[in-house]
Amino acid sequence: MRGDGFLFILRPPLQPFHSLNQVSRSTMRPPTRRTFLAAIASAFAAASSWLAGAARAQTKPRDEPPGPPASRRRRPADGDYPLPAELAAFGLLSIIAGRPANRSITLSALSKENAEAYIEYGTAPGKYENKSDLLPLHANEPAEFTLAELQPDTAYFYRLQLRKSPAIDFTPNPESRFHTQRAPASTFTFTLQGDSHPERPQMSHPDLYARTLLGAAAAAPDFHICIGDDFSIEKLRAWTADTIAARYLLQRPFLALVGAPLFLLNGNHEQASLFNYNQKGRPHDAAVWAQTARNRLFPMPAPDAFYTGNSQQLKPIGFLRDYYAFTWGDALFIILDNYWHSPVQVDTRLPAEGEVLTQENDKPKSRDWWEITIGDQQYQWLKKTLADSQAAFKFVFAHHVMGTGRGGIEQSELYEWGGKNKRGDSEFKTKRPHWDLPIHDLMVKHGVNIFFQGHDHLFARQQRDGIVYQELPMPADHGYVAYNQERYPAGTKLPNSGYLQVTVSPQQVKVDYVRVYLPRDENDKQKTGDIAHTYTLQPKP
Ligand SMILES: [Fe+2]
Repeated sequence: MRGDGFLFILRPPLQPFHSLNQVSRSTMRPPTRRTFLAAIASAFAAASSWLAGAARAQTKPRDEPPGPPASRRRRPADGDYPLPAELAAFGLLSIIAGRPANRSITLSALSKENAEAYIEYGTAPGKYENKSDLLPLHANEPAEFTLAELQPDTAYFYRLQLRKSPAIDFTPNPESRFHTQRAPASTFTFTLQGDSHPERPQMSHPDLYARTLLGAAAAAPDFHICIGDDFSIEKLRAWTADTIAARYLLQRPFLALVGAPLFLLNGNHEQASLFNYNQKGRPHDAAVWAQTARNRLFPMPAPDAFYTGNSQQLKPIGFLRDYYAFTWGDALFIILDNYWHSPVQVDTRLPAEGEVLTQENDKPKSRDWWEITIGDQQYQWLKKTLADSQAAFKFVFAHHVMGTGRGGIEQSELYEWGGKNKRGDSEFKTKRPHWDLPIHDLMVKHGVNIFFQGHDHLFARQQRDGIVYQELPMPADHGYVAYNQERYPAGTKLPNSGYLQVTVSPQQVKVDYVRVYLPRDENDKQKTGDIAHTYTLQPKP
């Protein structure tokens, strides 16, 4: 089996783009995504060439800033975030699934070179009774295949067949899978990642990121959720539609590794915000270009028969696809947006041309935090979505409490999230006269089980009023730091890196923090796949 896997890695499925395949295809067993990923995982464990020379992590001197020792930091450079060589095929063709529903799904395919392709799919591995239309794949432009009239609550297996002119035969991509909406009383898994920040070499290593995403893939999740700060545009040397889209293109082959539908959230560093949009010139353009690139390159949901969400369209973007909700099995999923509905700057600003932001000047010096808001429309939708749901479990996701600040429950008592100002005075009724309850209290009233957030770059689990506040670890921090832990005086705190794996069953929700390390950092005490923390929750009465 392992030998087959290695053979397959040496002969990736995209023969039109490779000259590596010198062995007759007749000697190959048909690849599946599972064998493909298993082989890659083996290769990661065994191959040391691209990790050669690296020693075990050493204890950092006290005066050194967070992150790996200076000798092991990657050198920063625009666009310098390569896929591991073993995964190069994902850079030539990436498939991103999105908008999974009860009877449909969207598969976005992007090829580095002009080609044409179709999807074949069915309900058993290797048996594809159905075919999509044949679509042209223009180089570096995504093409969306919509598979409709699917059976609800059913596992599907599919593969893309690709032909690059002048080839006559199509070449199959490895098999992958998805599941249509789970019925109530089902058991399923989803995975989550915190801020990946590929533009920050001190806390994001592409090899580690790939390992984390392959780990999530091995869990066969029904979907994977990114909590934001995955497409920062602030360090770009120039802001154009193309340079901004490049931040999204960079992530495609990595996120394609999960092989599951994706749900994205905006973070502060994406700069896709109402504050930018409402300005003239570059900030406006950057906000438009960022959200347009996201929605073009990643199939996110707009309101339809399956999803609810932001029904307002903004020129020239159209549907923002920034907040949305859906039910899966016994769970309600609500994705909130912190940035598209606040008239004021929520967190970091977009730097001026040539300016380098610092932690001292990247946020407003003085601000009225009551002006930061998710907006009336999103609040009323949140309230209705929670009130209308009969789901046994309810999960809410946002980049951060209020989209800015640090901490979890510490922040949850403040402003529109908790109703109080920083002196502890309740100002909610005068500051939000048309809202019933602060967001935290609304979530308590309707039995939300977990509020997931990112932004603070560590694993932190806290609880207030029966709601878990779960801060997500970074997926690729090769310094294995617990950033901002001083801002979490209460709760369980653990360092990066890894992903969260959540298993939902009728009886309980189980949350596992799965650690991931670079091979050079593994030893008897820490290995990729270690479960650093687990907890379970039962349905609320
Ligand atoms: Fe953030």
